[in-house]
Amino acid sequence: LPLLRADLALIGFGHVGKRFARLLDEQSASLASGYGLSCRIVATATKRHGCEAGGKPCADAFEAIDYLASSNADLRVVVETTTLDIERGEPAAAHVRAAIAAGCHVVTANKGPVAFAYDTLHAAATAAGVSFRFEGAVMDGVPVFNLVRETLPCVRVTGFEGVVNATTNHILTEMERGASFATALAKMQADGVAEADPSLDVLGWDAAAKTAALANVLMGARITPHDVKRTGITEQTGKRAREAMTRGRRIKLVASARKAADGSLSARVEPRELPAEDLLAGLDGSANALILDTDLLDRIAICQLSGSLTQTAYALLSDLVSIARSHRP
Ligand SMILES: NC(=O)c1ccc[n+]([C@@H]2O[C@H](COP(=O)([O-])OP(=O)(O)OC[C@H]3O[C@@H](n4cnc5c(N)ncnc54)[C@H](OP(=O)(O)O)[C@@H]3O)[C@@H](O)[C@H]2O)c1
Repeated sequence: LPLLRADLALIGFGHVGKRFARLLDEQSASLASGYGLSCRIVATATKRHGCEAGGKPCADAFEAIDYLASSNADLRVVVETTTLDIERGEPAAAHVRAAIAAGCHVVTANKGPVAFAYDTLHAAATAAGVSFRFEGAVMDGVPVFNLVRETLPCVRVTGFEGVVNATTNHILTEMERGASFATALAKMQADGVAEADPSLDVLGWDAAAKTAALANVLMGARITPHDVKRTGITEQTGKRAREAMTRGRRIKLVASARKAADGSLSARVEPRELPAEDLLAGLDGSANALILDTDLLDRIAICQLSGSLTQTAYALLSDLVSIARSHRP
């Protein structure tokens, strides 16, 4: 394959951004030999740790994006991994908007832009002839959006239910085994899996953002996380989970959405008591799963049996390869 040069600007350089940068390095030989792709990070932006473009300090993420836009590489890709903002999905959505307006492709693991502004960002990217990819927003690198987009032509998703937040599933599993809420949460923070603000996980906001993202992309909804009916987990949920276990049942934080016959959509996140034989009840620790209700394939499920930063970074890498494939001249 003739070599395709990709210049990247990393907007956000925390746990995910750093792991992605190392993964690019680790995979450089396979990217070159398998996909003819040679990547170079030309700009990085953070909130408190400075911004750099072309080896020189720059003011902010928008200046880093402008610098990338001036590159003459075959592909210019903004990799957005800033913190989730549950109020409005900003400034991540603004970063994505600026990147698209400047003619750059975007890959992100941030749920904010898809959960709050999928419709307009998707339309803007289509009009600009660039890609807007976000596989890492739900279940890390396990293909959820790509599964439907690439492999399920004509299939209509009419609803879904899933366990989509690793932190709360881990906490629930540990509390079933007698651990305290605080100890279980501390482990997920130490592993860099919990959100920067862990209340986003335990109050169900992260799952609500994923629910909105899934409903917007897979079901054509136009909702935000604030339209998702939401109940999180507490120490008290742990007590209920231990009691449910004595009856052979388990409590899971279930995210779901359904379309009613009149076309209206209801979306919720709530601790739900499930019989042991339910697929979602069998998920331990940081395992996640999503069951899609469809018109042509009935119910199908995809599982992620463990999660890690590498898997989130892989989502960004796989999106990057998809962009290279679809934009190869
Ligand atoms: N961690 C996971 O396992 C995981 C899994 C799936 C998806 N995600 C998503 O991936 C994203 C990143 O997660 P993370 O764990 O890497 O978070 P993180 O470690 O807190 O890193 C966030 C990065 O974004 C930067 N940032 C925040 N606001 C910014 C702004 N306005 N302009 C420029 N940079 C800004 C931060 O700057 P400072 O360094 O200066 O603070 C930091 O570098 C989040 O949206 C999260 O929901 C994470």
